[in-house]
Amino acid sequence: MSRPAKAYIDLLALRHNCELANSLAPNSRTMAIIKANAYGHGVLPVARALEPLVPAFGVTCLEEAIELREGGITKPVCLLEGTFSDDEIPLAAELGFWLSVVNKQQQQSILRASLKTPVTVWICVDSGMHRLGIAVDDIESTYRMLAASRNVASDIVIATHFACADELASDLTYRQLQQFKAGVASLANADTVPLSLDNSAGLLGWPETHADWNRPGIMLYGSSPFSVPHAEADRLQPVMTLRSSVIALRDVPVGDSVGYGARWSAQRPSRIATVAIGYGDGYPVHAPDGTPVLVNKQRCSMVGRVSMDMITVDVTDLPTVAVGDEVILWGKGLSVNEVAGCAGTISYELLTRMPRRVPRVYSG
Ligand SMILES: Cc1ncc(COP(=O)(O)O)c(C=O)c1O
Repeated sequence: MSRPAKAYIDLLALRHNCELANSLAPNSRTMAIIKANAYGHGVLPVARALEPLVPAFGVTCLEEAIELREGGITKPVCLLEGTFSDDEIPLAAELGFWLSVVNKQQQQSILRASLKTPVTVWICVDSGMHRLGIAVDDIESTYRMLAASRNVASDIVIATHFACADELASDLTYRQLQQFKAGVASLANADTVPLSLDNSAGLLGWPETHADWNRPGIMLYGSSPFSVPHAEADRLQPVMTLRSSVIALRDVPVGDSVGYGARWSAQRPSRIATVAIGYGDGYPVHAPDGTPVLVNKQRCSMVGRVSMDMITVDVTDLPTVAVGDEVILWGKGLSVNEVAGCAGTISYELLTRMPRRVPRVYSG
């Protein structure tokens, strides 16, 4: 027997979501973003499940890419932040990794590297997010210098990243698109150079921004990037279901409190279930009273402060609940977005920081 707190990972749902991403932009190629341990889902099982469906993967850094090669993944892997030191460049080239060029220093490092085989480069452009990337005005010179180098393969991609694609009413996406296009227009081969703009929100919500490559992340894991209903995003299926069990039950009289800090007190004679899940298992410590959980598939309220290994749930309205019954914290039947919203965070954070001590159980 083992502690019941487990993250169940549905690889069929993952593939369904990837196929949806592919079908939304049939003329684009999908780079599946699997950084940060595939947003907490376990990078190797996720990569193995997706490898037949996508031509490339995106991760943050060399270490994450090497983990994929060591796990038998042979498709190209793009390092979205490029390299951090010059010695990474020959290794990346040798292992078939693609390098983002996010600043002039990285550009210079690639130009002066001594490489046996040329490396594929993605020039990352700052079209208005102002976080990473070369200036729009530098696209032409950066491209020209890299394209002329024997160290660089001929399939250079020009990429940018949206700041607000998840806000469908924001005009920043259009402004970024215009800036990006204006910069690309300065290239002699502007009509044929491959481009990449979209994250999940761009792919789902902004068809006019689909390009040669899309880079969906969160949607692969079944979480909508939008805070409002959306016809396409609502077809996503949750991949991670975080599940545990009731490990204790007690009656709490009116006026008595539950848990650390006595944050919640019973307003009626209450039946309280203790569930084996806590912030040590990735459940958000800031979840307030009333955060929904599913006990035997019925919605109930989490009450009292989240402990490291336990939460407490008001099951007064479910008189048949017994020790050992199933509790779903998020996933099938309860979206991670809803729980994240209650706790003042985002699904990305809840999924990504799922700790090692929660076993991943794979199906599909
Ligand atoms: C450069 C880049 N592209 C794509 C993605 C995927 O974004 P999302 O998970 O919102 O689809 C990310 C994630 O942060 C990113 O940094």
